[in-house]
Amino acid sequence: MLIKVFENYNALSEEAANEIVSVVKQKPDAVLCLATGDTPTLAYSLLRRRIVAEKIDISGCTFVGLDEWLEIPPQNEGSCSFYLHHHVFHPLNVKPDQIHLFDALSDDPHSECTRMDALIRQKGKIDLMLVGVGMNGHIGFNEPGVPTSLYSHVVNLDPVTQTVGQKYFTNTTRLTRGITLGLRHFFESRKAIMMANGIKKAEVVKLALEGPVSINLPASAVQHHSNAIILLDEEAARSLRK
Ligand code: F6R
Repeated sequence: MLIKVFENYNALSEEAANEIVSVVKQKPDAVLCLATGDTPTLAYSLLRRRIVAEKIDISGCTFVGLDEWLEIPPQNEGSCSFYLHHHVFHPLNVKPDQIHLFDALSDDPHSECTRMDALIRQKGKIDLMLVGVGMNGHIGFNEPGVPTSLYSHVVNLDPVTQTVGQKYFTNTTRLTRGITLGLRHFFESRKAIMMANGIKKAEVVKLALEGPVSINLPASAVQHHSNAIILLDEEAARSLRK
């Protein structure tokens, strides 16, 4: 696990964009799993600039969704699908056949898990998983207590996630269940980038990186990943041992 601390959010986001670019340059048919949320938004906008300026061809890449709020339609601007289309797929001109997301409205979300697991198996492995850290230490929607052995699964969202998640929605929204890639996908990914910024993440970052590895704090799993880079700004790194 390599920890890199940057002066500010901008520098952290530039490095995250660099990491994505370098994976794609090395492997033009890379399988990418990109988190949604506030943390990576600037990285995606910087990524677009790099891709346009350097004419990087991403038409061979596959994009798999990390997670989704169940029962929230993709047209809802708080959905992960909406976010990815808005910040990544549309700006980067990603074609529909390159995109594989969970269907939040499926009658059978468990079959969505089977479909996603089969797709990832068929593609080989995820080349890059870029994740954020939740205030409760979740990765994707791998909530506290989740077994590390799971691939995709349906989850009852932790109360912290239900509350914090309201920030993505215009109106108060019932967020009870989610669907997510599992920690097993995380461990099996060829490279994992975990990002966090801002003072509000300092405590959870400290616990994840310096505390014991525990299912009660899924982000601590990063300590056991064979090729993980942690990108932090100074505020998120503030509680770490010097
Ligand atoms: C989003 C996701 C979540 C977020 C995490 C941090 O796809 O999987 O785990 O990465 O909740 O969210 P932000 O970046 O909004 O603080």
